[in-house]
Amino acid sequence: MAAKLIKGTEIREEILEEIEAEVAKIKEKHGVVPGLVTILVGENPASISYVTLKIKTAHRVGFHEIQDSQPIDLSEEALLALIDKYNKDDAIHGILVQLPLPKQINEKKVLNAIDPDKDVDGFHPVNVGRLMIGGDEVKFPPCTPAGIQEMIVRAGVETKGAEVVVVGRSNIVGKPIANMMLQKGVGANSTVTVVHTGTKDLASHCRRADILIVAAGVPGLVKPEWIKPGACVIDVGVNRIGEKISEKTGKKIAILSGDVDFDAAKEIAGSITPVPGGVGPMTITMLMKNTLKSLKFRLGIN
Ligand code: GUN
Repeated sequence: MAAKLIKGTEIREEILEEIEAEVAKIKEKHGVVPGLVTILVGENPASISYVTLKIKTAHRVGFHEIQDSQPIDLSEEALLALIDKYNKDDAIHGILVQLPLPKQINEKKVLNAIDPDKDVDGFHPVNVGRLMIGGDEVKFPPCTPAGIQEMIVRAGVETKGAEVVVVGRSNIVGKPIANMMLQKGVGANSTVTVVHTGTKDLASHCRRADILIVAAGVPGLVKPEWIKPGACVIDVGVNRIGEKISEKTGKKIAILSGDVDFDAAKEIAGSITPVPGGVGPMTITMLMKNTLKSLKFRLGIN
C-alpha cells in the first residue's frame, strides 16, 4: 500500500494562515507587529534566493521586515556593529544572519553576538542550552527540526514511546531533533537513537524505527529494505543531482533528490515526506513562528 504523503507545502499554508491571524490580533490589541531583519553579506545566489523567500514570507504574514544586504568585503567589526544596532532596535524581534559568511568573518563570533532573545534561528549557544533543558526553557527551537516535529504532529503520528532513529548528527538538524524528540511533551517522549558515519550497521538501526528522520546529505542513502513497514519517514536531504529546464519559466533549475529512495520507500512506509515539497518549506515557516514567539515573549503573552 502506498504511504500517506506528508506535504510541507500544505502544512506551511495552514501554519502561515494561523500566524497571519495571530499577527493581526496582536496588532489590533497591542499596536505592534513582529519585526524580522535578515542580514545578507555578499551575493551567493542560493543565499539570495533563501533570503528573498524569507522576506517575502515575512511580508505575507504581516511582519515589519528588513532585508539588509551588505557587500562581500564587509569587515567582521562592521557586521558586529550592525548586529549590535539591531539588538538595540525595539522594532526588531528576530535577527537572522544568512550563512555561510565570507572568509574574513568568524561565523561563531557573529552568531554569539546576536541577542539570544532575538536569535530566531536558534543557533546561539544559549538557545542550544535552552533546547537541551527542554520544557518552558525552550525559546527558539532551530527552524528545520521545529518544522520536522510540527509535520510529525500534524500528520497524526504517535510519538510517545515510539522508536525514533535519526540519521545524521549535524548541529542544525540531527543533534537538535534528537534532543527535541526525547523531551517530555506533545510530539516527543520518544526513545531516540542517533546514527552517523561512525555507526557499524546503519540498516539494523533504521529497521527498528517507527519514525525515521534522515538528515545525512547522501542521495538515496536509505534503501527500502531499511524501512519498517508502516513507519513514518522524514527525509531532510536536499541534494542537487543535476539540472533541468523548468517548464514554467524556461530557466535552468536543480534536480533535487532526498536521502531516501522515495519511489521504493513509499510502498513500505506508512507516511513519508517528498523531496522537494516536504521538509524544505517548513524551515522558513518555523522562522516566522519563532519571530512571532519572540514578540509574544516581549509582550508577556502566550
Ligand atoms: N543558510 C542556510 N540555511 C540557513 C538557516 O536556516 N539559517 C541561516 N542563518 N543561514 C542559513
